[in-house]
Amino acid sequence: MSNYHIKNLEEYFQVYRKSVRDPETFWEEIAEENFVWQERWQQVLDFDLTVPRVNWFKGAKLNITENCIDRHLYAHGSKTAILFEPNDPSETSQHITYKQLHKRVCKFANVLKDQGIKKGDRVCIYLPMIPELAVALLACARIGAIHSVVFAGFSATALSTRINDCDCTLVVTSDGAFRGEKTIDLKAIVDEALGSCKGVKSVLVVKRTHSEIPMVENRDMWLQPLLDSASNHCEPEPMDAEDPLFILYTSGSTGKPKGMVHTTAGYMVYSAYTFKNVFQYREKDVYWCTADIGWITGHSYIVYGPLANAATTVLFEGVPSYPDWSRFWAIVEKHKVNQFYTAPTAIRALAKERLDFAENHDLSSLKILGTVGEPINEEAWHWYNDNIGKKRCPIVDTWWQTETGGIMISPIPHATPTIPTFATLPLPGIQPALMDEIGNELSGNSVSGRLCIRFPWPSMARTIWGDHQRYKDTYFSAFKGYYFTGDGALRDTTGYYRITGRVDDVIIVSGHNLGTAPIEDAINEHPAVAESAIVGFPHKIKGNALYGFVILKETGEQRDPANLRKEINQIITEHIGPIAKLDKIQFTKGLPKTRSGKIMRRILRKIACGETDRLGDISTLLNPEVVDAIIEDVL
Ligand code: WTA
Repeated sequence: MSNYHIKNLEEYFQVYRKSVRDPETFWEEIAEENFVWQERWQQVLDFDLTVPRVNWFKGAKLNITENCIDRHLYAHGSKTAILFEPNDPSETSQHITYKQLHKRVCKFANVLKDQGIKKGDRVCIYLPMIPELAVALLACARIGAIHSVVFAGFSATALSTRINDCDCTLVVTSDGAFRGEKTIDLKAIVDEALGSCKGVKSVLVVKRTHSEIPMVENRDMWLQPLLDSASNHCEPEPMDAEDPLFILYTSGSTGKPKGMVHTTAGYMVYSAYTFKNVFQYREKDVYWCTADIGWITGHSYIVYGPLANAATTVLFEGVPSYPDWSRFWAIVEKHKVNQFYTAPTAIRALAKERLDFAENHDLSSLKILGTVGEPINEEAWHWYNDNIGKKRCPIVDTWWQTETGGIMISPIPHATPTIPTFATLPLPGIQPALMDEIGNELSGNSVSGRLCIRFPWPSMARTIWGDHQRYKDTYFSAFKGYYFTGDGALRDTTGYYRITGRVDDVIIVSGHNLGTAPIEDAINEHPAVAESAIVGFPHKIKGNALYGFVILKETGEQRDPANLRKEINQIITEHIGPIAKLDKIQFTKGLPKTRSGKIMRRILRKIACGETDRLGDISTLLNPEVVDAIIEDVL
């Protein structure tokens, strides 16, 4: 276990230097010592970032579920793998042991096989945070089917786009979902989505809410009876290192969502390695990540990373505010959680509530706190450190992306001194670079620029499903030979990194990435709307909120603006989901445009942020007069 458990800063630098000097030996040792392989690789790394082409552990054969489950059965068979905490605190939590998980995954895998699912087929999973969600992922991986999890907060339209984009033939869902006080009719959303998904042959339905739902004949089946009659035994499918493990959609600055493709061996090695190091997981620890498995954080750090380390991972169905704002802390106390990983937006929402919600609970089990998804502001960082960690738990501010598969820049607890708002140093194997706008790499410290990665790492996404050209254009074209993250960052005098935010048209709202283009497309479908532009503005809890500038058609100008605003948000909810609703909608006669007709979002952003005295030179605009008119009506 030589490369695991970095204990101090000196050791970090030693390991880091080794990982940069000889990345192949570095990852080869980790792969060799910590996983089971059915066949060894012929080549550790083969790559060309200008193509781009990246292959890790080429020629190896493995199954990730053997690594996440089977190999733990002897030593940890009775250990809790998944600790399920239901939405309703009066419902009993479930401790699913590694042995039980093995059985459930095998059974589920056999049900998939019986439905005709084979290696390489795509399966869409649209489920709430219940154990079947984790089991469904693993069941796909067991037989080599590619899972595509769609967050269960997405609308029917968003779901159908994702199902069709990768031609899923089977969907796993539930009758409904419990979320705080609400019960959500998930199956109805699936039914609506499937109206435009002709390729879906079967729908497996988990019973969760026991609500009455219609079942479509020859398509819909209750999962439980099928599981009951399925065999406990399912051989893990031998997978090539570079066979796709899953597809996960993320928003782009333009057009439809990008189906990021992650492959088997590199993803497994990297998610497991980073889980162990960033959370300093020890054998008896209980680890809890509050993300939803519908996002990459849940894939890598609720399911695969923890299970590959034989960890106990908490899976929480509910929300932090139900039955009241003490729920997170009640769960920490109840299950004696040791590592707790959440998002800045949740911390800000919790910090706004009464302190006794936290004070009334015993949080002494906590050892390490984590954050992810967006920059954490200093105030939230201190609140977390003072009131939850009681100044004795290192905070790991982890920077990474759906595309990177695993944590890239983060402190290592007890090794890297933390500074609020700094993700600090790259993990071993990660070589960040900052670039100026014309593509030169900025050397030395005290610089800021566009954040790129200079060398491949095992869990990088390999392509966008069905569109390798878009993958190349989005990530490998701005700076030749580098992976471009879309984020801006600064490197301070000591070499620490602070992520400053997106430099493209992606806006992070409550930790969710939202592209402006799909929201604008949705708004423009409203019959009264002629054109629209979305920008972000700072929000106390959500980090950013959305501000829409909307030009109405003549018919729209006669309508009641309050009703129109409601209808616009309704259309957004239908097309994308409630997470993309606008906080402010300003109706305007025009939008500032360049002479080539492009909307100048930079100016709109300044107006939305109230920085109208810092607009810069607007004389080159096609229509500078609209700027004054917009400022006059600003909300
Ligand atoms: C942002 C989430 C600052 C960043 C794992 C990135 C962060 C995007 C941090 C990816 C952090 C994530 N500090 N910004 N610690 N972590 N981000 O794909 O802009 O949902 O590009 O992956 O979130 O979001 P995604």
